[in-house]
Amino acid sequence: AAPVITVDGPSGAGKGTVSHLLAAELGWHFLDSGALYRVTGQACLIEGVSWEDEARVAEIARGLDVSFSAAENGEVLVAYKGKDVSAAIRTEEGGRGASTVAAIPAVRRALLARQRDFRRLPGLVADGRDMGTVVFPDAPLKFFLTASAAERAERRYKQLILKGESVSLPRLLEDIKERDARDSSRAVAPLVPAEDAVVIDSTGADIEQVFAQVMKEVTL
Ligand code: CDP
Repeated sequence: AAPVITVDGPSGAGKGTVSHLLAAELGWHFLDSGALYRVTGQACLIEGVSWEDEARVAEIARGLDVSFSAAENGEVLVAYKGKDVSAAIRTEEGGRGASTVAAIPAVRRALLARQRDFRRLPGLVADGRDMGTVVFPDAPLKFFLTASAAERAERRYKQLILKGESVSLPRLLEDIKERDARDSSRAVAPLVPAEDAVVIDSTGADIEQVFAQVMKEVTL
């Protein structure tokens, strides 16, 4: 099977940026597993299904018509039923929807095979919460990135401000803590580092420093 490097961790730990850089550096494929949960949440809004309606949300996840493509500026475009939902899934509401539907066991089961399909030569960098524990437990190299909640809230704040969303920092910190609690206390695939993961705390470090730390481990 093609090699996989997994990058897991809580919201705002810098996983997205680091794993994108890593995939580009190695010339490997990239799996943004959070986007699949975000699209599932978004699809529920579009189809008029409540995030709490477990049976119907699972049905949506099983039949999810999602596609990824690269925009000219290198950004990843995400489409549901052929319609661009890239911006909609990245809002705070999109994050809440994702983490709500992600707590449903049948939804996680439905998305499992789809995630494993991304594993192709020359290799895959997989970004998420349970890449190293559930989806690719046999990955030869696993990272768990974390940072203090305050710092993660600040990073998220800067990202959203850049995108023109009006957000408040205290509100974001609340959201992050709430999401952390939900992600780590759920019964299936709770957010914990894999036993064999390299844990990197990026509090006070910038992306270059974290990426350098990651690259030191990459000897594939
Ligand atoms: O930027 P952030 O990490 O918050 O977002 P994301 O990676 O797109 O994930 C959004 C939500 O999807 C998370 O809060 C998790 O609840 C859920 N998720 C998950 O349960 N398992 C994954 N492998 C990826 C995301």
